[in-house]
Amino acid sequence: ARPVRRCRASVASNYSQTSEIVDLDWENLGFGLVQTDYMYITKCGQDGKFSEGELVPFGPIALNPSSGVLNYGQGLFEGLKAYRKPDGSILLFRPEENALRMQTGAERMCMPAPSVEQFVDAVKQTVLANKRWVPPTGKGSLYIRPLLMGSGAVLGLAPAPEYTFIIFASPVGNYFKEGLAPINLIVEDKFHRATPGGTGSVKTIGNYASVLMAQKIAKEKGYSDVLYLDVVHKKYLEEVSSCNIFVVKGNVISTPAVKGTILPGITRKSIIDVAVSKGFQVEERLVSVDELLDADEVFCTGTAVVVSPVGSITYQGKRVEYGHQGVGVVSQQLYTSLTSLQMGQTEDWMGWTMQL
Ligand code: COI
Repeated sequence: ARPVRRCRASVASNYSQTSEIVDLDWENLGFGLVQTDYMYITKCGQDGKFSEGELVPFGPIALNPSSGVLNYGQGLFEGLKAYRKPDGSILLFRPEENALRMQTGAERMCMPAPSVEQFVDAVKQTVLANKRWVPPTGKGSLYIRPLLMGSGAVLGLAPAPEYTFIIFASPVGNYFKEGLAPINLIVEDKFHRATPGGTGSVKTIGNYASVLMAQKIAKEKGYSDVLYLDVVHKKYLEEVSSCNIFVVKGNVISTPAVKGTILPGITRKSIIDVAVSKGFQVEERLVSVDELLDADEVFCTGTAVVVSPVGSITYQGKRVEYGHQGVGVVSQQLYTSLTSLQMGQTEDWMGWTMQL
């Protein structure tokens, strides 16, 4: 076993002064874990306050078998990315939005959450400590995964007496194996992702475990992922297992409104603002599954998937195709606008990036 070296921010900032990049096959990065050097960790006890966190070598953590997260799923996660600019410096994309979303989710899950300031500072420390793992410009990004969990022991059903907040990071490329090529979705008519009054709008770990079965069946049939419908009417679009969905018709871009059963994606929100700034009319509303039939384009958004064009959707045995197997014009325009801003290739006219 590796010796545990404790490492505070000063060590992390030493990393920030080196221009070294690890020797990896950057051309073939997918979305799998590549272990990096350090992770950030802090705990919070009954007083509700997180201690000053520290960077420790990335590795396994000890968890009580009776912890809230293992027994009752009291856990949340976040996802955000850091990009290397052409000049070698690093940009974070809207980290305070993740901090705020974690606070909202923590409230729903009866957990304390770190302050926005502590969250953003912890993200910065983690990225700087792992700076050599941020891919070269245009080759991918460093995916940052904050985790908040009930680590204290419980037996009866109750909020845990102690919480652990961890951030680790991994270099990533494209999420779907199709790369940037359009993905093929199937509308799910048996399983549902969320119910009104449930936890569909927060990033709790259970939301992701519960979609694995539908996703597995879809993949076995050759689809990239599953598109969920609302549980009440079984008619309105909700989201894909790991991302939000948009439907394009002429100059109008529609997406399901955030009303408690879908995740308020940060990329979703950013794409809405980018689209409006480009002159599109964006509607957040109930989007019926029938609208897929005569849409010009469909695309998904998420931190991991970025903007992913949809090539086909199958619903009740009928397949509708978009973009003639290519990337639709609108999807391409929005993808390029967002990613060039995230990577620092164009001016950040929205003020969304944070330079490290
Ligand atoms: C993300 O896009 O960051 C997510 O959290 C989705 C996850 C399933 C990879």
